Amino acid sequence: MATLSFPRPPLVDEVVALRPWRRADIPQKFAGLSDPLCLRFSWASTERFTEVHVRRKLEVQERERLEGKGINFAVVDVAAREHVLGGAELYDVDGSRSCAAVGYWLAPHARGRGVATRVVRLLARWGFERLALARLELTCGPDNTASQRVAERCGFTREGLLRSHLPFRGGRRDTVMYGLLPGELS
Ligand SMILES: CC(C)(COP(=O)(O)OP(=O)(O)OC[C@H]1O[C@@H](n2cnc3c(N)ncnc32)[C@H](O)[C@@H]1OP(=O)(O)O)[C@@H](O)C(=O)NCCC(=O)NCCS
Repeated sequence: MATLSFPRPPLVDEVVALRPWRRADIPQKFAGLSDPLCLRFSWASTERFTEVHVRRKLEVQERERLEGKGINFAVVDVAAREHVLGGAELYDVDGSRSCAAVGYWLAPHARGRGVATRVVRLLARWGFERLALARLELTCGPDNTASQRVAERCGFTREGLLRSHLPFRGGRRDTVMYGLLPGELS
């Protein structure tokens, strides 16, 4: 797929906005991702997570955006856009199959009030309408109840369990696979 451009105007609702990451966000991003729940569900390595990982990942994500493979957003407060609530992305974007996957995380202070649900709805709508996706996937660990609730609230169908799907913390992890088709977003 061609380079993925950030949407203009940006994706917003009454509570959240999605914007490109800025270098000044790095400390907030590192603090949010260092939270035990984020590490438990999103940090697959056995290495200690550091700010260097955040910096390197930003560079990788920008390359992937230019190659049309993914696009990563800072999730910010709509009224205070320097205030990072979390992050979200479309990744594994595959133009030949018109498919992509959605991922997200929130800092502890932003959880428990439906923010992730809002973010997934914004990204799913944009993916179907602007990127002409025919299928959006959402995957998570079998024990990640909050993430599964987000998927279900947005209208995703639980399609199955991918056994021994990922290398994770020196072992392997099963993955729950959810899928959403155009017209199913709720
Ligand atoms: C997953 C995550 C983004 C959810 O964000 P959120 O905005 O807090 O989600 P919501 O407020 O919409 O809550 C979703 C549901 O999960 C429930 N929930 C929240 N935390 C929970 C927990 N620890 N255990 C069980 N259920 C939980 C909520 O009650 C809500 O249920 P409801 O729909 O029945 O009301 C957030 O928990 C997070 O950042 N987790 C760490 C990173 C992560 O897991 N990322 C996803 C990887 S697949």
